[in-house]
Amino acid sequence: MAESLAIPLLESVMPSSLDLDYYLRLDPAGLGLFSTASDAPGAVRVDFSDQSLNYRVLNKPKHQNLVKAVGLNKIAARSAPKLHILDATAGLGKDAFLLASLDCWVTMLERSSIVHAMLADGLERGLLADNTQAKTTVADATSRLSLCRGDFLELADALEPVDVVYLDPMFPPRSKSARVKKDMFLLQGLLGHAESQPELLDAALNLAVSRVVVKRGKLSPALDPRAPDISYGGRSSRYDVYLTQAHKS
Ligand SMILES: C[S@@+](CC[C@H](N)C(=O)[O-])C[C@H]1O[C@@H](n2cnc3c(N)ncnc32)[C@H](O)[C@@H]1O
Repeated sequence: MAESLAIPLLESVMPSSLDLDYYLRLDPAGLGLFSTASDAPGAVRVDFSDQSLNYRVLNKPKHQNLVKAVGLNKIAARSAPKLHILDATAGLGKDAFLLASLDCWVTMLERSSIVHAMLADGLERGLLADNTQAKTTVADATSRLSLCRGDFLELADALEPVDVVYLDPMFPPRSKSARVKKDMFLLQGLLGHAESQPELLDAALNLAVSRVVVKRGKLSPALDPRAPDISYGGRSSRYDVYLTQAHKS
């Protein structure tokens, strides 16, 4: 893995004794990302069996803004075929897992090779998970997730159309005091804030059959000067929905 990620492989070395900001550790709990900063949180992993993630999945998922923004509440009511969603900026796969647990097929695309390796590790462990939840199992939801590596802007033209494209590019914090959750804090430190990618919306609208959903910070401007057709605002974030031409008429 170190070879394929082009990072040095350390054996039996205390990372604190080295000049490192971040390191990955593969242990029985999975592939963890660590920071060596003195106030660093513990390991960040892709863990689809995580309790708080499954709490989100099991507690009124259809009331969640992401689920409404994707249009899943309406579609499920009509017992239509399940949606195929492209999560074009997959990150740690939490949003993708929520959607897969609601029976969507979700293709996760991630451009960072390190985050991609963490997702691949999480998928492998998720498929083996046996903790049965009330309505779904972690393994069952994980089986509806697939993973690709690459930059959405480079691959968009070669991808098959999907019902919905979901975009959650890393957004800068709204203020210095606004702390993001520990996993996103570590990811932002590792990857830096995404440069602005105004082409994302057009690429997504070309690929989506029905809609594009963009996650933004609650007070952040929209991704593009076009006004979204619908917005669902929450405590810290907002989901902007852009309907495709075919679905506006
Ligand atoms: C904020 S995180 C996404 C978090 C995710 N929604 C979740 O639930 O864990 C953003 C991720 O998008 C990836 N990303 C940003 N721009 C991208 C692009 N053009 N193509 C593919 N991945 C991209 C970053 O590497 C990062 O891992």
